[in-house]
Amino acid sequence: MFQGTRIVYVLRPMTQINENYQKLQAGYLFPEIGRRVAAFQSAHPEADLIKLGIGDITLPLAPAIVDALHAAVDEMGHEAHGYGPENGYAFLTDMIRAHDFEKRGVSIAADEIFVSDGSKQDSGNIQEIFGTGCSLCVTDPTYPVYVDTNVMAGRTGEADAEGRYDGIVYLPANAENNFMPGPPEERVDLIYLCSPNNPTGAVASRENLQQWVDWAQNHGSVILFDAAYDAFIQDPTLPHSIYEIEGARECAIEMRSFSKRAGFTGTRCAYMVIPHEAMGRTASGEKVSLNALWNRRHATKFNSVPYMIQKAAAAVFSPEGAEQTAAQVAYYMENAGRIREGLGSAGFEVFGGEHAPYIWMATPDKLTSWDFFDQLLDRANVVGTPGSGFGPSGEGFFRISAFNSHENVDTAIDRIKKAFGR
Ligand code: MLT
Repeated sequence: MFQGTRIVYVLRPMTQINENYQKLQAGYLFPEIGRRVAAFQSAHPEADLIKLGIGDITLPLAPAIVDALHAAVDEMGHEAHGYGPENGYAFLTDMIRAHDFEKRGVSIAADEIFVSDGSKQDSGNIQEIFGTGCSLCVTDPTYPVYVDTNVMAGRTGEADAEGRYDGIVYLPANAENNFMPGPPEERVDLIYLCSPNNPTGAVASRENLQQWVDWAQNHGSVILFDAAYDAFIQDPTLPHSIYEIEGARECAIEMRSFSKRAGFTGTRCAYMVIPHEAMGRTASGEKVSLNALWNRRHATKFNSVPYMIQKAAAAVFSPEGAEQTAAQVAYYMENAGRIREGLGSAGFEVFGGEHAPYIWMATPDKLTSWDFFDQLLDRANVVGTPGSGFGPSGEGFFRISAFNSHENVDTAIDRIKKAFGR
């Protein structure tokens, strides 16, 4: 056996790995940031870092949710609640149907909802029900889970020098298209859309989504619509759900989450909607219900979200829960406004942050995203997320998250301005 610096060649039998994983570019973005921050902290233990990187909540769970959790735990102490219905308890799905959809004029059946432990998982797992030969399209920059999970599944070739995988259609999202590109010329099987968008903070208009739905219907494509940040939309005329768009029930799957809207990043609860009309086909052309396929997958690989967590999620829709969680969203959006205004008026080029908890800024002095990350860490002790981590078109941009206290956000803005001479 010869051992090089990275590769060990083996001459004896050994179990083969899924080599698609070897195509992945570096580590997953947020652990990589975590490693750099940890290294900086151990070299500068006195530094008072302000973290505006990963989009993780900073406010504690709202009182109505804590009360629901306590009550559910007490209940479980005198009454058995074992395996729940794998698609979610009716006490939660009824609330979801009434509050997230009926209030916006959308009718979703109970068996079209699949409660899960997170939209990260859902957006990564949904590709399993599609053929490995399916072509796919992402807006660029994009949430890295969409791309990486398809790479792992073998739906792509290798990445080029800029990190574009062969076999994926990348649609650049830029200031010219308001960071919400329209459909491509060519036919593609699967398209991931995210609105409000992570990372750019842009939001899709009704017209933009209608364009996508029309395109998907004409091409027999499936839209995977990630609406994890819908609660941050400020303009009531903007669509929260893709099912507000005519024709979407035939071609779209939607993902929603309690993570950011109600502080569930550590509590874990989300759901996916797959309408009965959404179809795929077999190699021989037979139509197959995507709802039925996912139902089979979910029942096989998942055993429901814990009872008390679903009780807590249902409390998000109670009058107190709705009011308290809306106040939390408003708190983060106040931060987003301060960052937009503070950096924008200092001459930085900023986008997003009006209907999303993310501000997307052009790096100053044409720095690369990672160079700006390092300089910001070093000179301002502020952590953000390099745009290039979200895709090749993210190079030259930087994402700042609004999840932190007002005080820390104000201090971070001052430090960024001082560090870059504004
Ligand atoms: C992000 O910062 O992009 C998000 O926190 C990632 C996630 O929701 O998984």
